Amino acid sequence: MKFHKLPITEKNMLNVGIVGATGYAGEELIAILLRHPGVLITSLSAQIDKPRKISEIFSQFKNKLNLICALPDKSEIILKCDLVFLALPHTVSMEIAPKLLGAGKKVIDLSADYRLKDTKVYERFYKTRHKDKAHLREAVYGLPELYRVKIKKARLIANPGCYPTGAILGIVPLLVANIIDVDSIFIDAKSGFSGAGREAVARQEKEILNNLWAYKVNIHQHMPEIDQELSKFADGKVSVTFVPHILPLKRGILETIYLKIQNPKSKIQNLIDLYRKFYKKEPFVRILDEGSFPQLKNVVGTNFCEIGIHADAKKGVIIVIAALDNLLKGASGEAVQNLNIMYGFPEYTALV
Ligand SMILES: NC(=O)c1ccc[n+]([C@@H]2O[C@H](COP(=O)([O-])OP(=O)(O)OC[C@H]3O[C@@H](n4cnc5c(N)ncnc54)[C@H](OP(=O)(O)O)[C@@H]3O)[C@@H](O)[C@H]2O)c1
Repeated sequence: MKFHKLPITEKNMLNVGIVGATGYAGEELIAILLRHPGVLITSLSAQIDKPRKISEIFSQFKNKLNLICALPDKSEIILKCDLVFLALPHTVSMEIAPKLLGAGKKVIDLSADYRLKDTKVYERFYKTRHKDKAHLREAVYGLPELYRVKIKKARLIANPGCYPTGAILGIVPLLVANIIDVDSIFIDAKSGFSGAGREAVARQEKEILNNLWAYKVNIHQHMPEIDQELSKFADGKVSVTFVPHILPLKRGILETIYLKIQNPKSKIQNLIDLYRKFYKKEPFVRILDEGSFPQLKNVVGTNFCEIGIHADAKKGVIIVIAALDNLLKGASGEAVQNLNIMYGFPEYTALV
């Protein structure tokens, strides 16, 4: 167990800060990093009325972490941290990241501010102007399974969205194998309510129990992110159809993806083998046996993404089902996986 008392004396530890520490993703980051043998949490901040001990906000951290959570003070964060996680709403991250990067700090941003390379698309889906185009250019999309080499050298990570992580991992092997029609990709996605963030959940509390509903049908802001990443692995520009839903569960995402086989006459290879080869070195992707499909209970509380595949050559259809924990592989777990890659820790450190 690590106890944090400033001044910190452990010289070889990586000093890490979390801005947005009181949110869902921030809370998960603290829990994971407390298990990390190479990391010290040295700064916690949020939009908070008055400074409070983090263990008063989250009693699970009592006797584990004695830090005070206060409003973010960029100069203090710079003084205390080597790397900073931004677990903030979009637009707030791009107000803070430039100063941290300018001071030579590394940043892992969990918001959408550095994910979309085309600022016009960002502005259309997030309804606000992009204010940090300079750093947007250098940001690396933090999906380890596809961009590990770039992540290793990055200063700024755009941690992927929760829905995009499952969708991209579920579809890319088929694009690389050139098997599917890129104009017919339909994603039916269901998420636990924590995907919306703590404040939004408080607003909708009464709606959540015993309910299931679709929202932002085919206009959700994660759709262009999925298109952007999939297009890099396809011959043409990919444009998915995406329908998200809210489940009456706190956490977990399950995405059922319907795809059309490009040439129904061509013999499709064993897709489970294809996926297993594609992800053979990946510590956090599990490809299920034929006839088995993901269940949330097997991924919630873990950093795994589970994928099940069904192909029907007669109908010319492939169905891929991907499941993950939106707060772990879809957010904070993936963010720590990126930290591990950036600093040369074994990738699974603090995540298993
Ligand atoms: N939830 C998920 O499943 C998930 C998955 C992937 C990515 N993400 C992304 O991760 C980010 C955080 O998500 P979340 O679900 O943790 O959201 P959240 O529960 O709403 O937490 C947001 C955090 O940001 C703080 N904050 C808000 N405005 C601030 C400001 N101006 N200055 C300083 N702190 C501020 C909040 O402080 P107070 O609580 O004190 O107001 C809170 O700590 C979002 O961009 C989200 O899109 C979330």
